[in-house]
Amino acid sequence: MQHHPARLIAKKRDGGELTRDEIHDLVSGVVDGTLGDAQLGAFLMAVCCNGMVPAETAALTLAMRDSGRVLQHGHVARPKIDKHSTGGVGDKVSLLLAPLVAAAGIAVPMVSGRGLGHTGGTIDKLAALPGYRTDLSIERFQHVLEQCGYAMAAPSAEIAPADRRMYATRDISGTVESIPLITSSILSKKLAEGIDGLVMDVKCGRAAFMVQEHDAVALMESLVAVGRAAGIKMAALLTDMDHPLGHALGNSLEVVEVIQALDGPCPDDLRDVTLALAVEMLLLGGVTNDADSARALLLRLWRDGVVKQVFRHNLELQGGDPRVLDDLSLLGRAPHVVPVEAARSGFVSDVDPLALGHVVVDLGGGRRQPSDAIDPHVGIVLKHGLGDAVQTGDVLAFVHARTAAAAKTAAERVAAAMPVGDERRRRGALVKQRMA
Ligand code: URA
Repeated sequence: MQHHPARLIAKKRDGGELTRDEIHDLVSGVVDGTLGDAQLGAFLMAVCCNGMVPAETAALTLAMRDSGRVLQHGHVARPKIDKHSTGGVGDKVSLLLAPLVAAAGIAVPMVSGRGLGHTGGTIDKLAALPGYRTDLSIERFQHVLEQCGYAMAAPSAEIAPADRRMYATRDISGTVESIPLITSSILSKKLAEGIDGLVMDVKCGRAAFMVQEHDAVALMESLVAVGRAAGIKMAALLTDMDHPLGHALGNSLEVVEVIQALDGPCPDDLRDVTLALAVEMLLLGGVTNDADSARALLLRLWRDGVVKQVFRHNLELQGGDPRVLDDLSLLGRAPHVVPVEAARSGFVSDVDPLALGHVVVDLGGGRRQPSDAIDPHVGIVLKHGLGDAVQTGDVLAFVHARTAAAAKTAAERVAAAMPVGDERRRRGALVKQRMA
């Protein structure tokens, strides 16, 4: 490093503003190891406590992006637009959204993460598809993108390596909850994908990273401002995560829900959030310039089976077995499937996403530690939602478990997370705010 690390850390500790050059120097120290672990922890804590002005966050984001390889897809003529969600329970939107917007002429070079804790990750859901590969070389990733309009890969060590070390240190130093650090972490990886535009789905509610709406709005504003400062088009939606999205929670079960939704029934909330994000992607990509015609185009492509064709093409290109589209039993199934029944008549008065997300993790469907293995088949399928009228003995949900004992414990917890009462409650708006 050219600067003395302790001096830069102290400057941030005392509320000073770091220059672009100083931030680049710190990030180079993160990558080449000349910034020690204690120094990195101290720097992150100083940022967490004192924040950063937008110019500092933008400089940090670009330095982190440039710490690794930045993809370029000059061979792909389509507008390259991605979507990123801050994560939620039952959020399988990417699996539907990518073929949907690809069918409409967008290219989606999507590098996604694995799940940690109660929020699932797209890469874990894709791993439930027999044969599907997400460990693509950059050349293969670009080939798939060109051929079918979207490619989905796990982040390689070449993409934003500074974020790997910074995120791991944040995780153990109480510095995850910082808007400049979240912004730079998310956008450095997304900008390295070589995109022209990004739509952010910032989740808000009990099972979201940001529980309070004012915190979620602050994150949304930071992401949009920094993305634009970095030279890409940005739009963002603030969406509800006070209830799960769709009916299926758990990797393989969520894939089943997506495959069925390609040409069959799709839960209303999943369809509405997917379409709202897809419309923003089409607008950013200039496919149309009004939301109504974007929505009409997307609905037509979905209804006419074009989205399913694109999904099939991607599946073939990424090594998956396309027979799953016609035979869902090829996805496999957990050995114990037990119903959760309503103990009384009334209305479903809550569907607690955080409690349900934790049940899925404890069944083995999510990770407590980054090194944990995932059981793709376990999870929960909801049969009723908030406000539904039910009679005693009606099935509220099915638990899919590896053992009978795990199924029994999980079923008790699911019943507690879905109480039945006398008052009929309705879900609030799914899309709470839009920024474009
Ligand atoms: N996702 C990321 O990639 N980074 C964060 O800091 C938070 C969510």
